[in-house]
Amino acid sequence: MAEARKFQAIKGVRDILPPESALWNRVEQMAREVFETYGFGEIRLPIFEQTELFARSVGSETDIVSKEMYQFSSNPQFEDLRDARAQALRIFDSVARSSSQPLPGFFVASVREYVELIETKVNSGLLELNKEIEERLSSLKSVLSEAETEDEQKFWLDLRIKTELLKLSEDFALRPEATASVVRAYIEHGMHTLPGNVKLYYIGPMFRRERPQKGRYRQFYQIGAEVLGRADHPRIDAEVIEMLVRFFNSVGLTGTTRYINSIGCKQCRPKYVERLRAELVKVKDKLGADSQRRIETNPLRVLDSKLPNEQEMIATLPRIADHLCEDCKKHYAELRAQLALRGIAYEENWRLVRGLDYYMRTTFEIVAPGLGSQNAVCGGGRYDGLVELLGGPPTKGIGFAIGTDRLILSLQDRSLQDRALQEAASRDSAAAATSGSAALATTSLDVYVAWMGEKAYPTAMKTARMLREAGLRVELPASDAKLGKSLGLADKLGARHAVIIGENEVASGEFMVKVLADSEQRKVRDEELVGHLKGARNV
Ligand code: HAM
Repeated sequence: MAEARKFQAIKGVRDILPPESALWNRVEQMAREVFETYGFGEIRLPIFEQTELFARSVGSETDIVSKEMYQFSSNPQFEDLRDARAQALRIFDSVARSSSQPLPGFFVASVREYVELIETKVNSGLLELNKEIEERLSSLKSVLSEAETEDEQKFWLDLRIKTELLKLSEDFALRPEATASVVRAYIEHGMHTLPGNVKLYYIGPMFRRERPQKGRYRQFYQIGAEVLGRADHPRIDAEVIEMLVRFFNSVGLTGTTRYINSIGCKQCRPKYVERLRAELVKVKDKLGADSQRRIETNPLRVLDSKLPNEQEMIATLPRIADHLCEDCKKHYAELRAQLALRGIAYEENWRLVRGLDYYMRTTFEIVAPGLGSQNAVCGGGRYDGLVELLGGPPTKGIGFAIGTDRLILSLQDRSLQDRALQEAASRDSAAAATSGSAALATTSLDVYVAWMGEKAYPTAMKTARMLREAGLRVELPASDAKLGKSLGLADKLGARHAVIIGENEVASGEFMVKVLADSEQRKVRDEELVGHLKGARNV
């Protein structure tokens, strides 16, 4: 009889059992409800993608991509070919980047090894090449033979390009995060043609080969949201943070700290990074191995260092806030003003650079109590330009991801679990009593808040918040627009009602509510708005 063997979940991966799983479901359900009131729709994404997607967007030098991805080949039989090709490209890239003298012949030898591996497989009948691959192989071989007989260096770039092109199997990776996938999907489905900003949320597992500890797993879960479109007004950034605050309040997570920063743009950041690098070079000997390496690869990440003996030195480094260009400065100031307008407390943290390459301007992180060293429960920021980088049209983007494992840990740690469950249960029964929730899941937008004139914005923002708290799905445009244009967009977005707020309405506290389908309109007082719109939805 075969010996009985006990299986265990793999290191860093775990089961979520009842009753904890009930809390997970509640939390995820609450995210859906809150996000939908802000006009977000769910996107379900694949769990694996081409490795290259993450390398390009998250950045090939980041820890996530260079060390932590679970990768596999579309053709496992040829994994040695994949590795040989990757090795050659890596050697070229590191030689090209480093200022030290290259190792002569090393790169060319690695390309030769790759070619020989392919030929061995072909000769032994293991591998059959199609015409296109055959042509690529012979083109690479001819450059290789020239490089071997003449000045090698002259042919390096050509060799690199041809090696990259000669790909015999695709590399896939379990997703370490989902922003790259959302952007891929946005481009693939031509979502830039949709009216207004595209607002998407996702819920699901991510995978990173990190050292497991409390709050850090190899399979972990995120609840994330992304806003993609043409607009990059700081009001969008503030609204995204407002939505997070509402979500955390609704699940009973208190005692959080919200950190914000601006890391500049393509214009101002490179100059700052050079300044930083120059300062870091001066104190190189006082830094640990990781920070020393980052002086070359990504000096900004030195600011992330948690090593106690580096802290004093880091405090003396130049700060990006002093090096932002005028546009970034304005954007950041407006973000702070918008957070203040919403009554959202925050702390500025000039060292908040985040570990993914796609960010620009706004970055933010929320930390929660009871988590020990892994206390970031949410991270996010703006990533204008990422869509272009992945081959799409010029697009702005901002988003965040909440670490669900950490959120649950924090809720459990402070014994708030019961409160969260109770609150969620009472909300459920209230929703059932008004019988509005069924409609919520099937209709698109309930209300478009059409505001005109900058002075009307604070009232429009408060009105949108009040309607969302009542469970209505609301779109609040970030920029002032003429009424006709606003109503046109409201119509395209499929909103049932437009609430019109101009300066006169602000003064009188009475808003014009328009039914978009039949142009019927009537004046409704501020305090009657929720009842009126909910009543209209249930007709
Ligand atoms: P991130 O900061 O890498 O950002 O991850 C977001 C959150 O996921 C973290 O704050 C943390 O709560 C959780 N998390 C990350 N790694 C682990 C782990 N190994 N175990 C448990 N929880 C973890 C992103 O992923 C970006 N895609 C966020 C974003 C969306 N930025 C713009 N849009």
